[in-house]
Amino acid sequence: MVRKQQGDTVLDWNNQVAIITGAAQGIGKAIAQELAASGVIVVVADIAEGKIGAAVSEIMESGGRAIPLRLDVSDPAHVENGIRKVIDEQGRLDILVNNAGITRDGLLMRMKDEDWKAVLDVNLAGTFYCCREAIPAMIKARRGRIINLASVVAQLGNAGQANYVASKAGIIGLTKALARELAGRQITVNAVAPGFIDTEMTRILPDSAREKLLSAIPLGRMGLDKDIAHAVKFLASPQAGYITGQVINVNGGMYM
Ligand SMILES: NC(=O)c1ccc[n+]([C@@H]2O[C@H](COP(=O)([O-])OP(=O)(O)OC[C@H]3O[C@@H](n4cnc5c(N)ncnc54)[C@H](O)[C@@H]3O)[C@@H](O)[C@H]2O)c1
Repeated sequence: MVRKQQGDTVLDWNNQVAIITGAAQGIGKAIAQELAASGVIVVVADIAEGKIGAAVSEIMESGGRAIPLRLDVSDPAHVENGIRKVIDEQGRLDILVNNAGITRDGLLMRMKDEDWKAVLDVNLAGTFYCCREAIPAMIKARRGRIINLASVVAQLGNAGQANYVASKAGIIGLTKALARELAGRQITVNAVAPGFIDTEMTRILPDSAREKLLSAIPLGRMGLDKDIAHAVKFLASPQAGYITGQVINVNGGMYM
């Protein structure tokens, strides 16, 4: 159990409530499992209704506490109702992890309006909507942790991903602006920028693209969902209370 520390009003992990978006699979699910293993009540929020139940059951079977929430982060009314319901029922919201994300890759000169819009709506606007709904409860409690999932490509650029890269670079800017807005309330806002992680998102890449990406990783392997979950858990922890407005790179050295 983590005891109260100077400069941090959070007593311990137990009974804290966290919403993790896109938590039905991949990195989000690993984050939910890590936080639940520390005693946090995790809300598994995802648009993929069919997968939420399995993720929740896995956490419960390991002794954790998890709540299912079907949530489309790109729909502001849906986000307002969903997050309000969690706060009303649980009476608190300590941690928000904005992890839901999609790709619609293609060269910019051929990119369709709907592919640009879909990626910006889920990745960037979704992060904005969730932050907006989560913040009042955190301000009232004078504590909170917001962690946004960016990407190494926000700093490197990537051909064929203008929409995705723009959304992730936007998330870094949003993170820093919000960190400044909320610092006076003892709410920290940080981003984690994963490199090339082995999940459904990257399994769809052709072998040639995967090999090229692998050759650019100094540590010589793809990242695991757990590699990202550990960094998120640290930023969510009472020990990270003096870190805000930062981008933590977890990329095997792809960008340094
Ligand atoms: N996998 C990587 O290499 C990598 C690298 C850098 C950044 N990231 C970022 O990490 C995050 C998680 O990626 P992942 O690899 O686990 O992806 P994933 O595709 O395995 O999982 C994404 C989850 O988000 C959910 N989701 C999609 N649209 C949603 C919406 N509108 N509302 C709510 N949930 C929605 C999906 O149903 C899915 O469960 C994303 O933000 C991604 O951009 C991943």
